[in-house]
Amino acid sequence: MPKLIKITPFEDQKPGTSGLRKKTRVFMQPHYLEAFVQAIFHAIGGAAGKTFVIGGDGRFYNDRAVQIILRLAAAQGARGAIVGQGGILSTPAASHLIRLNETDGGIILSASHNPGGEDEDFGIKFNMPNGGPAPEAVTEAMFAATKTMTQYTTMDAPDIDLRAIGSTQLGGMTVQIVDPVADYANLMESLFDFPAMRTRFAAGFTMRFDAMCAVTGPYAREILENRLGAAPGTVTHGTPLPDFGGMHPDPNPTWAHELMTEMMGDAAPDFGAASDGDGDRNMVLGAGAYVSPSDSLAVLAANAHLAPGYAKGIAGVARSMPTSAAADRVAHAMGIACYETPTGWKFFGNLLDAGRVTLCGEESFGTGSDHVREKDGLWAVLLWLNILAVRKQSVAEILLDHWHRYGRNYYSRHDFEAIETDKADAMIATLRARLAALPGTKVDGLMIVAADDFAYTDPVDGSASQKQGVRIIFDDGSRIVYRLSGTGTEGATLRVYLERYQPGPDGLQRDPQEALAPIIHAAHQIAQIHAHTGRSQPNVIT
Ligand code: G1P
Ligand code: ZN
Repeated sequence: MPKLIKITPFEDQKPGTSGLRKKTRVFMQPHYLEAFVQAIFHAIGGAAGKTFVIGGDGRFYNDRAVQIILRLAAAQGARGAIVGQGGILSTPAASHLIRLNETDGGIILSASHNPGGEDEDFGIKFNMPNGGPAPEAVTEAMFAATKTMTQYTTMDAPDIDLRAIGSTQLGGMTVQIVDPVADYANLMESLFDFPAMRTRFAAGFTMRFDAMCAVTGPYAREILENRLGAAPGTVTHGTPLPDFGGMHPDPNPTWAHELMTEMMGDAAPDFGAASDGDGDRNMVLGAGAYVSPSDSLAVLAANAHLAPGYAKGIAGVARSMPTSAAADRVAHAMGIACYETPTGWKFFGNLLDAGRVTLCGEESFGTGSDHVREKDGLWAVLLWLNILAVRKQSVAEILLDHWHRYGRNYYSRHDFEAIETDKADAMIATLRARLAALPGTKVDGLMIVAADDFAYTDPVDGSASQKQGVRIIFDDGSRIVYRLSGTGTEGATLRVYLERYQPGPDGLQRDPQEALAPIIHAAHQIAQIHAHTGRSQPNVIT
């Protein structure tokens, strides 16, 4: 029997770059999760008669949250729910299930790369029937609904056994518990040359995949070790744990330091990779070689045709504005379209749906294609493996070859985390106020030719997004971008993105921090980072 629960509206349920993220204990407050799920249903015109995919990255509270969502959906007349066994689904696997089963969308529980646990982070987001994150108009409708949400509808029912694969009823709703890995692994097998990759592993090719105790462990084991024959033990930290074993599952050189150390050491495997909490991010490494995410997108765009799923070529490439222009150079050389979008995967959805682009990427270790509507960590790793199997070169050789052909976009992102919010806001406001006066002035001898706040009009549906990052552009094409993170749960995080182009053939193998030193210095000067925030050094550099 449906049961109406009266509540006082929550005022802090504004979705950010990727859904609603808060401390886990915030979500554990009575009615908090329920109120947001009710707002989701409100924003999509109700749950009645609909089918949803439901799952998450297995972090603390994932299992409880799945049960709560199932009860709300059933009480409100949903027709069906497809749930990953144990409540587990990687974000790209959830996107695939939504598309494969043509459902009315999905609810994904994750705070991505943020640490998990009772004292860490939790999150929830809604994906549309195309498998992609809800666009801004929908997330705004959710936020508006939360502000006046005075009741929700649920039901009294015992928990479902999430471990039992098969169908069961919850009220009038059919709950189907599915293997979280199988359909996704089949999709990967349809895109890539598994026989060629198997041959390469059989010939002694070595790899390390660090799943960081997060969701990709079972996916990577099935695909890399079982289907491709990589040596047992190729996948490390392969069991998903509610607190990610205390790891910070963010695949970058800072947080995946164990993998970094191995790949930069004497006995490094041929190829290394890591993924994040919910499996949509990737970091790619070769023996002694680090591939920046912006370069990875460019290399994948230039070589995608080597994989069967992309043999016909790619329609176009899209990258988020702060991502380096390395992919633009490839697109230009190939004569295909290249789009620059605001930060966040939701902005790629329309371009993918319209067939304007095939590959997308962000500097924040996100790469993907039109096979799903999310970025996809293992997909990127497999495309790299496919390219390596065909070209029979090392990662370092492929990178160097790429830079020789296209030049190198030296790139780095400096993050200043946990700044007081009002100080960060004041810094950005001061910067914005000065933008008009900056062009034509010099900083540290560098001439500024343009300064603006990135605005975007979606070429497919015409929707407009303002204030998506402050850009400072110099006369040699070098660039600084400033933005505040939209995914944090504590204070503010300032992200400073730095880029400089080196045409080659010389100077292609410098340390990026050294190659970017003048730009870094100018970035501090222009925004007066220390004066505003008290910080003179970033705490994460990628
Ligand atoms: C960060 C990344 C962004 C990515 C998002 C979700 O958002 O910078 O590229 O899409 O996480 O994974 P931010 O914290 O910068 O708003
Ligand atoms: Zn993620």
